[in-house]
Amino acid sequence: MRSLSDLLAESHIFSNREVLSPHFIPKKLLYRDREINNIERAIAPALKGERGRNLFVYGKTGTGKTSCVRYVIEEVKGIPNTRARISFINCRIYNSRFRVLNKIISDHIPTYAKRGYGAVDLYEKLTSWIEEDNKIFVAVLDEIDMVKDLDDLIYTLTRINSDVKAGGVTLIGISNKVSFKDELDPRSLSSLYETELVFAPYYATELYAILKDRSSTGFKKDIVDDEVLHYVAAAAAKEGGDARFSLKVLSKAGELAEEKEASRITMKEAEDAIKAAENEVVYDLVSTLPEHQKIVLYAIAMLTQSGGSYKKLTDGVDTYLFSGEVYNRYRSISNNMSKEAKSERWYRKYLSELEMQGLIISFESGKGIRGHTKLIKLLYPTQKMKDVLEGELFGVSKGGKPDGAAEDMLKSKARPLD
Ligand SMILES: Nc1ncnc2c1ncn2[C@@H]1O[C@H](COP(=O)(O)OP(=O)(O)O)[C@@H](O)[C@H]1O
Ligand SMILES: [Mg+2]
Repeated sequence: MRSLSDLLAESHIFSNREVLSPHFIPKKLLYRDREINNIERAIAPALKGERGRNLFVYGKTGTGKTSCVRYVIEEVKGIPNTRARISFINCRIYNSRFRVLNKIISDHIPTYAKRGYGAVDLYEKLTSWIEEDNKIFVAVLDEIDMVKDLDDLIYTLTRINSDVKAGGVTLIGISNKVSFKDELDPRSLSSLYETELVFAPYYATELYAILKDRSSTGFKKDIVDDEVLHYVAAAAAKEGGDARFSLKVLSKAGELAEEKEASRITMKEAEDAIKAAENEVVYDLVSTLPEHQKIVLYAIAMLTQSGGSYKKLTDGVDTYLFSGEVYNRYRSISNNMSKEAKSERWYRKYLSELEMQGLIISFESGKGIRGHTKLIKLLYPTQKMKDVLEGELFGVSKGGKPDGAAEDMLKSKARPLD
């Protein structure tokens, strides 16, 4: 344990922690010239007082979408005498039509943004504000898939263009979900996707360059070898080409070295930091799920570990599970937890939610295997998933209890099946 005075002393590892934080938006964004240019092109008409075409930006997490769009917004801030007004809206926080409208009003007409107005008042205020001097309003909706009533929101914002006599609205939507298109109402889809821009995952060599650049200002001199940077870059490339992940690992490795009072970051710290970051990824995905989805996922993890009946049937290494056996296991776990299991209809909804989150994949078996059934596969490492879910569902901390402890705990609480 380090004392408070140790903690306050200057770090011998970091020279600027902030630079290594995955939230830091660097001045220069490597390998994203084409993407930045595309975003500039979507915003340029607004700067000239014309309504441009809406843009939809998508790609996996950590591919630089938010950073690039914010970068262009910063550039635009310096341009004088423009009728363009921009709101950057993080839809993780502003996750409904009402909240988004409220956020826009409080960004631009703060005096009006007091409590008590309904969506209609906000809409009318926004429309008259745009008309006042032919403004072009650019709404940047980051993580747009988080908006609960998204079709309503898109409809409302695009309707402004037919309601105003002058000026207009341009939308820039951003999503981490590559399959997002499938969920949208066709009308919203055609409004939002007037133009689209895909962010590809970073290659290991690109991640290496990003890490190299950040570590040169984030760490003191000679703290981290190229070997370590290459290793972290390769791990992040495997994790979906995610720059955020790579930076998280690197700064975590720095913290581990600091805790040990080591003079530099070695492969050991990098390995430990990768493990911790992988657990965190699973935790972030799982912790916000509703309880019954967690239980379904836990049933999937448990069956995957013990080998479902498909594995036995096919003798194979594949770990597909039958939808029916997962449902049965879900029911018995719920029972053991003294919770009422939901109907199969709900269960099917849960499966599609879990699939949407990228946690599982499912498909129809086709003919031959037990007639026609759904097969399910877990997309994350089984043990990690189990550890995290046991923590979430039963409060069993990772590594705190031997494997199977939660199952034993469940059995001891078990009550007879009704
Ligand atoms: N091209 C890049 N050059 C430098 N750093 C980057 C680049 N792309 C991403 N990053 C870093 O990774 C972090 C995550 O990127 P972000 O833009 O939030 O990704 P996304 O929005 O696609 O999930 C950023 O804060 C930034 O620090
Ligand atoms: Mg983002």
